[in-house]
Amino acid sequence: MEIIRVKDAVQGGKKAFELIQEGMEKGAKVLGLATGSTPETLYAEMTASDIDFSHMTSVNLDEYVGLGGSDDQSYRHFMDVHLFDKKPFAETFVPNGKASDLKEECQRYDDVIASHPVDIQILGIGQNGHIGFNEPGASFEGTTSVVDLTESTINANKRYFDKVEDVPTTAISMGIGSIMRSKKIILMAFGEVKAGAIQKMIEGPITNELPASVLQNHNDVVVIIDEAAASKL
Ligand code: PGA
Repeated sequence: MEIIRVKDAVQGGKKAFELIQEGMEKGAKVLGLATGSTPETLYAEMTASDIDFSHMTSVNLDEYVGLGGSDDQSYRHFMDVHLFDKKPFAETFVPNGKASDLKEECQRYDDVIASHPVDIQILGIGQNGHIGFNEPGASFEGTTSVVDLTESTINANKRYFDKVEDVPTTAISMGIGSIMRSKKIILMAFGEVKAGAIQKMIEGPITNELPASVLQNHNDVVVIIDEAAASKL
């Protein structure tokens, strides 16, 4: 893993954007994208730039079960607002949280991933070490599935909802096996709350109990962290 330390999330977003630009110059066509507060500075850089993404495809990591694109808290809505409305892509994929047959939706999403192999995957990390919504215990070979969110994740995400009871308890998530097939991975983490997970991801054993630790097995991972997230290394 290459570790890049930055001053803050803004500098982290700039660094991640530079890496994406380099990747695009070398022919990257498919970006694996993430939601949450972490990639917001990256998306701000992308939307402020004069780079054209209209030939690019995006494949997002996850979506809450039960929320559709018109729900303000859905990840589809987050992506539209933070990126796609301002920078159109050729095609953008996010799991459909309102699919009537969730098993079929997972299969459909695996087909999407198979036909659009991810060149550069953007990741955040949960305080419990999750990547996507692959919570502790998730299989390293996993494909897209419906996952139960842990209490830690529900608590971390409740800030986006009026009350904790409104946070969906299940989500559709790309699996770790699929994430690991991305050619390049850029994981970003900012703030003290991520320091424990970052320390275990980089210095701890590779274990399903800390899903991000699997990234030690990938040959092209760049970790962009601020001093607070790096404070336990
Ligand atoms: P955050 O979430 O960017 O909102 O901290 C990251 C994650 O849970 O993967």
